Amino acid sequence: MLIIKELKKSFSDAGTPLLNNLSLNTRKGESISIQGASGCGKSTLLSLIAGFEKPDSGDILVNNLSIVNSGSNLKKIDNFRKENLGIVFQSFNLFDCFNAWDNIAFTARLKGNVDKDYQLALMKQLGILSLAQHPISSLSGGEQQRCAIARALVHRPALVLADEPTGNLDEATSDTVSDLLFETCRHTNTTLVVVTHSNEVAVKADRALQLHQGVLERANIDNATLTTAR
Ligand SMILES: Nc1ncnc2c1ncn2[C@@H]1O[C@H](COP(=O)(O)OP(=O)(O)OP(=O)(O)O)[C@@H](O)[C@H]1O
Ligand SMILES: [Mg+2]
Repeated sequence: MLIIKELKKSFSDAGTPLLNNLSLNTRKGESISIQGASGCGKSTLLSLIAGFEKPDSGDILVNNLSIVNSGSNLKKIDNFRKENLGIVFQSFNLFDCFNAWDNIAFTARLKGNVDKDYQLALMKQLGILSLAQHPISSLSGGEQQRCAIARALVHRPALVLADEPTGNLDEATSDTVSDLLFETCRHTNTTLVVVTHSNEVAVKADRALQLHQGVLERANIDNATLTTAR
């Protein structure tokens, strides 16, 4: 579903590239977690998959559409983003001028498939339904994070990219919210790529990977370090 081929990306000419011939092949509906040291390129990788950044070389295919070799594909890529991509940004990127409800409804309105009942159910499960009419700026960081997650899911995308989706949540809320993210994607056969610093979140994925020296390798998570029982 998502295929990454020998991706290279540098932000400077000096030293080894940040991403250095990175490859990945995912199945439809598979969930992948990516861990790695701060600054190793995790958010950059998600930006490349979303088509916000261009790699130096290599290719990224989503449902056989190249996100990289755009050329005449620009309109197709735009449509792909609108219809099939859900993104939870590390810095949320919510709209201050909208309340919580309208922020979350944004992706569904763009796609033209507003389903109020589905949005109500998601907001209820995420514990933010009572905040629907509140200005987004009045919400706590954790509440905004949950709005960002609802916005990434509400239009039923085929691929969800989530950058530290539980970074602002306490342990118990992180557990509930990450369960919802993984379960929603499993039920809807949505491919999910989650960047996280949390071992507890990482092990919920079908495949736990780490970004190390520019490539993805299997993460080695010691079960004894987990605080949440699986
Ligand atoms: N647009 C850019 N221009 C120049 N350098 C950049 C740019 N974007 C990212 N970088 C650099 O690339 C490196 C990787 O950044 P990135 O945000 O991908 O790291 P990360 O793994 O997501 O880190 P964190 O865990 O702290 O979020 C950093 O050194 C960053 O400064
Ligand atoms: Mg990051």
